[in-house]
Amino acid sequence: MQPVQAPFPATRHRRTRASAALRALTQENMLSPADFIWPVFVRDGENVLEEIPSMPGVHRRSVDKVVEAAREAASLGIPAICLFPYTAPSLKTKDCAEAWNPENLSNRATRAIKEAVPELAVMTDVALDPYNIDGQDGFVRESDGYVVNDETVEALVKQALSQAAAGADIIGPSDMMDGRIGAIRAALEAEGHRNVSLLSYSAKYASAFYGPFRDAVGASGALKGDKTTYQMNPANSDEALRLVARDLQEGADMVMVKPGMPYLDICRRVKDAFGAPTYAYQVSGEYAMLAGAARNGWLDGDRVMMESLMAFKRAGCDGVLTYFAPAAARLLNG
Ligand code: PBG
Repeated sequence: MQPVQAPFPATRHRRTRASAALRALTQENMLSPADFIWPVFVRDGENVLEEIPSMPGVHRRSVDKVVEAAREAASLGIPAICLFPYTAPSLKTKDCAEAWNPENLSNRATRAIKEAVPELAVMTDVALDPYNIDGQDGFVRESDGYVVNDETVEALVKQALSQAAAGADIIGPSDMMDGRIGAIRAALEAEGHRNVSLLSYSAKYASAFYGPFRDAVGASGALKGDKTTYQMNPANSDEALRLVARDLQEGADMVMVKPGMPYLDICRRVKDAFGAPTYAYQVSGEYAMLAGAARNGWLDGDRVMMESLMAFKRAGCDGVLTYFAPAAARLLNG
């Protein structure tokens, strides 16, 4: 409800914009490094920092370099880092067994970070795509290519348990299977992982904005078909609310909307409807648009970065997963 205001000239809205002091006093939303979760790509090897061509300024890092990134995150005031493994093609199989190998890249990186920077929260990704010869987030049925739900959930539970055992603080199921939050929550409780948080990719859309990410994790070549039988239709909005309600009921602590910028309306609806900790993922394609244009001199990179991140706060998000996390935190810290 708008307060009743006297007509012009008693009300001049430009008064509160007339100086930096008044603008600061009347600013509604704030950004801080504490709003960010920094997604980082892990690869094998040592002392490797390899730039991803479609994501200028973003790298695949060997575990030792991931630990360096973790130290940097902590020193910048970023509370969490999120790990995505770039898995060698030779480790991708039909049964996706590498997903719950205690020695897989993601688990090794988690242990290394928790040893070096214990105060930094480590978030891990639950989905089979990095390990799947088919590039899909779940098991693919031979006869018709359908991604089967319940068998996939059993595998996701094993993957989540191996991540919790490695020391993950936040587990992020990004697979969009039905029932996975409840199944993972029950398994975590049964194994004594009472304080491992679940940040559910509740409203994850079948988006073309994930393109550069699939290059980054080496899934582009592997992916057969698309993900439209499990990720959401970009035309839908009410459905997102039903998914968030379901995930909170099944034991999610935090929920996510993904992608971010094209789905700010969904962020706002989710926050208003549930008041739960709500995050957006500013995905690889959103990063590529802004960073690519900035690199070409078409946009002011720092300013569009900060404006895009503030938009998530304005839309009601408590935080944002963003590849800009270190750059934005550096600017915010002055
Ligand atoms: C896969 C996953 C994807 C992203 C995070 N986890 C891609 C996909 O669903 O194909 C995308 C992140 C990004 O684009 O930055 N489970």
